[in-house]
Amino acid sequence: MFVTDCKFLENELLDVVRLFKRRPENLTHSFRFEEGVFYNAFTIDGKQFSFEDRGQVCDELIFKRLERRFAKLRLYQILSAEYGEKMPWGALTGIRPTKLAYTEMESGRNFKELFKQMQVADENIQLVENILNAQKGIYEKKDGNTDLFVSIPFCPTKCAYCSFITAPIDRTRHFLPAYLDCLDKELAAAQESVGNLRSVYIGGGTPFALSVEELKRVLQAVQPLYEKFNPHAEYTVEAGRPDVFSEDKLALLKDFGITRICVNPQSFSDETLQKIGRKHTVADVYKAFEMSKKYGFDINVDLIAGLEDETPEVFEHSVLEAVKTGADNITVHCLSLKSGAKLKEENSYLENNFISYMVASSRQILSQNGYLPYYMYRQKYQVGNNENVGWTKPNKACVYNIDIMEETADNLAVGANAVSKRVFNDKGLITRLASQKDLPTYIANVDEII
Ligand SMILES: C[S@@+](CC[C@H](N)C(=O)[O-])C[C@H]1O[C@@H](n2cnc3c(N)ncnc32)[C@H](O)[C@@H]1O
Ligand code: SF4
Repeated sequence: MFVTDCKFLENELLDVVRLFKRRPENLTHSFRFEEGVFYNAFTIDGKQFSFEDRGQVCDELIFKRLERRFAKLRLYQILSAEYGEKMPWGALTGIRPTKLAYTEMESGRNFKELFKQMQVADENIQLVENILNAQKGIYEKKDGNTDLFVSIPFCPTKCAYCSFITAPIDRTRHFLPAYLDCLDKELAAAQESVGNLRSVYIGGGTPFALSVEELKRVLQAVQPLYEKFNPHAEYTVEAGRPDVFSEDKLALLKDFGITRICVNPQSFSDETLQKIGRKHTVADVYKAFEMSKKYGFDINVDLIAGLEDETPEVFEHSVLEAVKTGADNITVHCLSLKSGAKLKEENSYLENNFISYMVASSRQILSQNGYLPYYMYRQKYQVGNNENVGWTKPNKACVYNIDIMEETADNLAVGANAVSKRVFNDKGLITRLASQKDLPTYIANVDEII
């Protein structure tokens, strides 16, 4: 049971509790503020704790920020001491630590002081600093900057860990003609809203689940926009699963000026691939790389740490193989199972206890091989509280990934299950507009979205 007399802090404190595997049975909290002092009192399974913290409060915004920080930090300290567990990001629960670091810096403060106060591990403070360095020259906070996202929620089959709103294409192909019509309409209307176009990202799902002709229709619909607003913008197709790669699809991308593609192995173990329902082999991954290389695309690679029964050795092998492919970007995700994922629904996943170790070794291997961390995000309620980090070879960072994580540019997202964002940098405001998730509802309502 959890009770607090401060509604504003309720979810924030619950987020701290959820960082820990062990949870208190009874937790009560009370808060008051008097003469510059923030008083937080907790009773946790019968034990009482109280704290007084001082902070300079100049306005309501700062008051709220300090109220939140002190309460979270104090609860984190109690639970960490009681359960003998430290978290890699300490009392920080937000999903964008780098964005928080930028906000601190913009206010003239050193982000490291806040991170230390919130008990973030030293190596993560260093990680954030390295990421900010790698983003120099790309990070740009300017109203009107725009990234275009085109959603292709179709996949060859559904992977067992995945909760994305996407379905096996043999069940949804009958929606495709109407879906492509909708994309045409949305993209034609989108011309009104594009500012300074920084990147285009056709993502999924698995865009290569489409046939050459279907894919061509999508590229044709994007083309006028791309040519009009910035024919030199980064242009990515998240081709995706190696089993659907083909020479003619790659040649088509080249014809339309695509600069970057994703080849996603997730793991270089056939045993794991089979367990997670990827329906492709490691040999398919190498074949997809071989096919792609001659077109000269920049290549992004996705891996997942913590899959099924993988040992650290199996995961390290995957990281080393990814490096050997010469990929320009390698993103290491930590497995995070949400509702909608088969493994979550069936409750069949046995927690992998090595994730933190895997994350540490991926950092070591990738930095030793000349990769720099360049974007990151955390997932809420992820086992081990680790993070997903994208690594890049020097000067090969993916603009789209940085913009989307730092929320510095408008995201003009078209298609089903797409979330458009409008960023008002000076006001610190972001407005969001989500389209319908399921295909028939999206198709039926597309005119309203436009
Ligand atoms: C939007 S998905 C699309 C990728 C593409 N369809 C593919 O599978 O190759 C982007 C990435 O998210 C990651 N991902 C998906 N589900 C995940 C999960 N449950 N936990 C961690 N990472 C996940 C995978 O690494 C995946 O490549
Ligand atoms: S991981 Fe990729 S291919 Fe697999 S179901 Fe999710 S989006 Fe589709």
